[in-house]
Amino acid sequence: MEKHPIDYLILVNPFHKIPEDFVDNLELVEMKGYDDEVFRVEKEAARQFCGLQAAAAEKGIEILLSSAYRSVEKQRAIKEEFTAEYGVDYAKRYVAEPGCSEHHTGLALDFVAKIGGKWLIENDEIVKRAGNFEPVYDLLPRFGFILRYLKGKEAITGYPAEPWHIRYVGDPEVAAEIAERGITLEEYCEMR
Ligand code: DAL
Ligand code: ZN
Repeated sequence: MEKHPIDYLILVNPFHKIPEDFVDNLELVEMKGYDDEVFRVEKEAARQFCGLQAAAAEKGIEILLSSAYRSVEKQRAIKEEFTAEYGVDYAKRYVAEPGCSEHHTGLALDFVAKIGGKWLIENDEIVKRAGNFEPVYDLLPRFGFILRYLKGKEAITGYPAEPWHIRYVGDPEVAAEIAERGITLEEYCEMR
């Protein structure tokens, strides 16, 4: 089946489910991430993430994927895994309902970084040391990425800050505008 161009600005959140046919037009490629785990990423987002990795490496920061495309079934499994490991409240706060995760788009990527010779893997650890990720955040717009879940914007995004979750929006100028204004994708879509 012929694929149509995808909408890089698609909004998926607790109020906007992923359209069922979105995946039909999604071109996913495989990328090796942390611990050699293989992830699937939308083709252009993957290419740009490679650029981001190289630019971060130039600043002495190694970054690797820790999550990328997820099917609805995979999201369900993650929800169950987090509920068992961290409890219902934590899973509710941090893990989207299956069908409402931006990870279904292949455009949302979670990353881990090696800081001071040590890989920061655990979410809590990353939250505590998010300041160390600043040099990576500065590079995001150049490659068309935004930091998706910002501190202080929980009421808009529906999630607490996630310093590891970035989103490809397709256009470096759009990414730069979102970053400069300090807004969320929800707010950007609203004002377009
Ligand atoms: N952690 C994000 C919100 C997700 O599960 O998609
Ligand atoms: Zn994520």
